[in-house]
Amino acid sequence: MVGSGDVGATWALIAAAGSGERLGMDRPKAFAALGGRPLLAESIDRLDRSEVVDAIVVAAPPGWEEPSILLAEELAASKVVACVTGGATRAESVAAALAEVPEAALVIMVHDAARPLLDEAHLERLLVPLAEGYDGAVPVVPVADTLKRVRDGAVVETVDREGLVAAQTPQAFLAATLRRAFAGDVDGATDCAGLVERAGGRVAVVEGDARLLKVTTPADLALVESWL
Ligand code: CTP
Ligand code: MG
Repeated sequence: MVGSGDVGATWALIAAAGSGERLGMDRPKAFAALGGRPLLAESIDRLDRSEVVDAIVVAAPPGWEEPSILLAEELAASKVVACVTGGATRAESVAAALAEVPEAALVIMVHDAARPLLDEAHLERLLVPLAEGYDGAVPVVPVADTLKRVRDGAVVETVDREGLVAAQTPQAFLAATLRRAFAGDVDGATDCAGLVERAGGRVAVVEGDARLLKVTTPADLALVESWL
C-alpha cells in the first residue's frame, strides 16, 4: 500500500551532485552557504524529519562524499543510509542513488538539493495521485511569461502557453516504475518524470510552490535566504 508508513517503504533521493556553475562559488552549489549552513542541509534535515520518508540517499558532488556524510551526522539525520558519488548529468546522479534503494521500496521521491525550501505538505501532496493509481506525481506552477522559440538571436515563434506549466521537485514515483524508466537510455532527461513519461508511465500533476524555487544564481540564493 502506498504511503502506509511501512518501514523502508518510501525512499528519498537527493540530487546534489551538480557543480553550480551559474552560482559561481568556490564550491559546489550543495555546499553554498544558506542561513549559515550548507544548502544541502535544508533538504537533508527536512526529508529526515518528514513523516512520509523512511530512508534517504544523497548523490554528492565528486570529492564531496565525506563532507556530505559528515553533514548528515551533524544534523543527526538518521534516515540517511548512503552518500554516493554523483554522475556527469542529473539523471546519472539519480541513477547512482537509485542503485542503493532496496527491492522492497514501494515509493521513491527524488528531490533537487538546489530547492532547499521543501516542506511536509509538498511531500504529502505527492502521495495522493500514487494512491489513486498514477505512476508518478510532479509539482507544477503556471508559466507566467510569454514563451518564445529563438534561433540565432531572432524569434522563430511565440509558443502557445495554453496547457504549459513548469515542473519542480520533489517528484514521487512507484519504485518499480522509476526503476523501469532508468533501465533505458537516460540521455537528455532533465527530470525524472520525463523518463517515466518516455517509458509510458502516467504522471499526475499536483500544486507546486513558488518557494520551491531552484537556486541557480546568487540572486536566487539571496531570495531563498530571505524566505528561510
Ligand atoms: N545535479 C546532480 N548531478 C549533476 C548535475 C546536477 O545531482 N551532474 C543536481 C544539482 O545538484 C541540483 C539539481 O540536479 O540539485 C538541478 O541542477 P542544477 O540546478 O542545474 O544545478 P547545477 O548543475 O549544480 O548548476 P549549474 O547548471 O549552474 O552548474
Ligand atoms: Mg545544471
